[in-house]
Amino acid sequence: MTNQTESMPRQVRVVEVGPRDGLQNEKQAISTELKLELIQRLGDSGLRYIEAGSFVNPKWVPQMAGSEEVFQRLQRQPGVTYAALTPNLKGFERALSAGVEEVAVFAAASEGFSQKNINCSIAESIQRFEPLMLAAKDAGIAVRGYVSCVVGCPYDGEIDPAVVRDVSAELLQMGCYEVSLGDTIGVGTPRSITTMLDAVASKVPVDKLGIHCHDTYGMAIANIYAALQMGVASVDSSVAGLGGCPYAKGASGNVATEDVVYLLNGLGIEHGVDLDQLVATGQFISAALQRANGSRVGLACAAAK
Ligand code: HMG
Ligand code: MG
Repeated sequence: MTNQTESMPRQVRVVEVGPRDGLQNEKQAISTELKLELIQRLGDSGLRYIEAGSFVNPKWVPQMAGSEEVFQRLQRQPGVTYAALTPNLKGFERALSAGVEEVAVFAAASEGFSQKNINCSIAESIQRFEPLMLAAKDAGIAVRGYVSCVVGCPYDGEIDPAVVRDVSAELLQMGCYEVSLGDTIGVGTPRSITTMLDAVASKVPVDKLGIHCHDTYGMAIANIYAALQMGVASVDSSVAGLGGCPYAKGASGNVATEDVVYLLNGLGIEHGVDLDQLVATGQFISAALQRANGSRVGLACAAAK
């Protein structure tokens, strides 16, 4: 077991997934203009990594059908990485011609979720990534990896941490620079997250890991705190807690970025995000989508004004 206090990072990279993980799950149509304004405001808030879309089959995830246009029209801010999900070579080629500068491949630690989400087994998904990884290398594009359902799966139940360990190691071995470990349905607790991270860290350096918590059971902040204590320094989150996964029934939004930033502020960990501007962005997108703001910190800060 890692010495937890000593391992807490001084600086954390906040990976904003709202425009992708957040918006992919909205039922209503969302205009490209609104997506672009959200991305712009997130950049203005100091976020330096924004997952802005995905190049999956638009029949599967209609909200992301406009990702080409989003990337083509994006006003890129200096120092900001705008990334996209790509499930296969076809997705990568679409992303490349839209001018995407970083992509992410996504695998799962459960066979049930892999089949439902990307229509293939875990092993087949890794095979599909191989030509993508080669093409990305040729194009000089960095690839991030995701592993979904790292503690629980809506189809297969509890997940063996050894599978998470092995899939993570495989993604890194094939060229991903970092693997984000996804509690897709938000069922983890600090104990199951710590057990899983211990297993993964036995084969993979902790500085190659990110944590991606959905907040279905309200455990995301506790789980992120547990991951920070183990030295994880890359945290995925979604402004106003937008989101969910269309292939994980009952999964609510990601942990809210505002809540993560408040936690990091309290811990004295650097992150570069302006909380006030971020809260305003959360209020803006919640109003635009006519949905309740899913950030406790966002609501508290807005009420205190
Ligand atoms: P498939 O049906 O197995 O693909 O889908 P296929 O290769 O057999 O092709 C079938 C059709 O799809 C063909 O078109 C292809 O051209 C087309 P047709 O000939 O029938 O007209 N196709 C594509 N079209 C556009 N872009 C592409 C593409 N690939 C094939 N890239 C596929 C496989 C992966 C494409 C499909 O299952 C899919 O799109 N799934 C979407 C999954 C998704 O986006 N899920 C949500 C994101 S993951 C997530 O949220 C979890 C995460 O946040 C982490 C966490 O929380 O744990 C990352
Ligand atoms: Mg997710």
